[in-house]
Amino acid sequence: MTKGITIALTKGRIEQATIDLLEQAGFDMTFMADKGRHLIFDSPDGAIRLLLVKAPDVTIYVRHGVAEVGVVGKDVLIEHPTGYLEMLDLNFGLCKFAVASTADYAPSDHKRKRIATKYPTVAKNHFAQKGEDVEIISIQGSVEIAPVIGLADAIVDIVETGSTLVANGLEIYEDICRISARIIVNKAALKNNPAVLPFIQTLEGLVGDREVAFK
Ligand code: PRP
Repeated sequence: MTKGITIALTKGRIEQATIDLLEQAGFDMTFMADKGRHLIFDSPDGAIRLLLVKAPDVTIYVRHGVAEVGVVGKDVLIEHPTGYLEMLDLNFGLCKFAVASTADYAPSDHKRKRIATKYPTVAKNHFAQKGEDVEIISIQGSVEIAPVIGLADAIVDIVETGSTLVANGLEIYEDICRISARIIVNKAALKNNPAVLPFIQTLEGLVGDREVAFK
């Protein structure tokens, strides 16, 4: 019997788009219709096992080889860059990294800025490329509060619709880079499980290699 593929899938925003893509790829995904509070799902034919996990943990499951494949945003891969092969841009889950702050932010001010973010590597690299040494304040979420209440001068965060920025009185000062969902794989699994490469090639045929821009 052919070995199935275990996929670590990021819970939340990119979950349904991934399930839809797997359906398009010919997998019967009806077993995902009534998820309840379950976190592990096996397709009845044994072709797929899905693990629903938090985004940064996708890279951990794949690195340890307990999942052959992971589906996760590029934002997470930039912060956790090792222990897997990045194979495919799925062209969904589109958003961007941006620098944002309140209307009175002065980007060209020469004082050392404090930048609040959930993405310290992205923030540090962005300002370092501009030759700016900044103080990074790492927080876990609700980052938009930081410039409003004076914890930071600006934030580096993900912008999708922009509504969280607007709702908190912030505006974008700089775009940093495009983000989208990616397929990552465990290197050994790519060699040892003959189902993995054809699986990725099937997905590649569906999403194409065209880079979709995020405005
Ligand atoms: C992300 C991000 C922004 C928001 C952007 O947060 O950190 O807060 O989404 O989306 P928008 O541009 O569509 O408003 P998330 O929902 O992941 O929650 P968090 O506060 O826990 O980071």
